[in-house]
Amino acid sequence: MPGIENIKKRILKHPARIPSHIAIIMDGNGRWAELRNKPRTFGHEAGVKAVKKVVEAASEIGIKYLTLYTFSIENWKRPQSEVSALMSLLSRTTRQELKDLNKNNVKLRTIGRIHSLPTSKQKVLNNAVEKTRNNTGLILTLALNYGGRTEILDAVKGIANSVRSGFVELQDINEELFSEFLYTVDMPDPDLLIRTSGEFRISNFLLWQTSYTELSIVDTLWPDFGREDLFKAVLDFQKRERRFGKISSEIG
Ligand code: IPE
Ligand code: IPE
Ligand code: MG
Repeated sequence: MPGIENIKKRILKHPARIPSHIAIIMDGNGRWAELRNKPRTFGHEAGVKAVKKVVEAASEIGIKYLTLYTFSIENWKRPQSEVSALMSLLSRTTRQELKDLNKNNVKLRTIGRIHSLPTSKQKVLNNAVEKTRNNTGLILTLALNYGGRTEILDAVKGIANSVRSGFVELQDINEELFSEFLYTVDMPDPDLLIRTSGEFRISNFLLWQTSYTELSIVDTLWPDFGREDLFKAVLDFQKRERRFGKISSEIG
């Protein structure tokens, strides 16, 4: 297996094949902790360190958009103690990392029903989004209180409202217009979706946007995922042939 710097070099040789948008389902924090006889929250804290590494590695190879599944709508069903630990970790980390986000020119965004999060968490998040607004490097999007079906329903409601008020005509509703009503407006669809911890499912993440996304499922548990794992996933992505329904000889 080539060394990590070698992998990076191979990736950078094909700049046109570097994904512009990578989405990640960061899974396996709980199992990582359980393997060490520690509480699940210990795994979530270790997961934050992996986030830092991956954000830096993604910037390093020129990824423009990185979208991280951080808390799903379904995750509210977890024990209350775990949910509050996750919420505190979120605001603590956002506050602590703001300086480094700016230093690394990272622009923070959020998608999901942010307005239904506790007000104190919203404040911390909105402040970080505001303070990184003018950064021009990686666009880091945290999917928080996010559900793919809810996002689609929110878009449907937005479109229905626009039709009712006369801004949109029924016959103008097409895929492009629909995308403009999603939380991910202004973002390209993910080129690559990585899921850690070996689970073969989407778990309600970016349902509309992943229609032609390349999938990469790795066994590594999220806290163990790092720079090398990201580079390997990108290198593998570069070897794929994305046909979008066409046949090989039609692809330029
Ligand atoms: C992912 O790790 C983090 C969140 C969903 C917030 P998990 O907490 O799902 O870890 P496992 O899947 O139970 O190991
Ligand atoms: C998906 O992981 C959600 C996040 C990573 C935030 P889950 O651990 O919640 O997914 P399931 O329940 O195993 O499908
Ligand atoms: Mg999980």
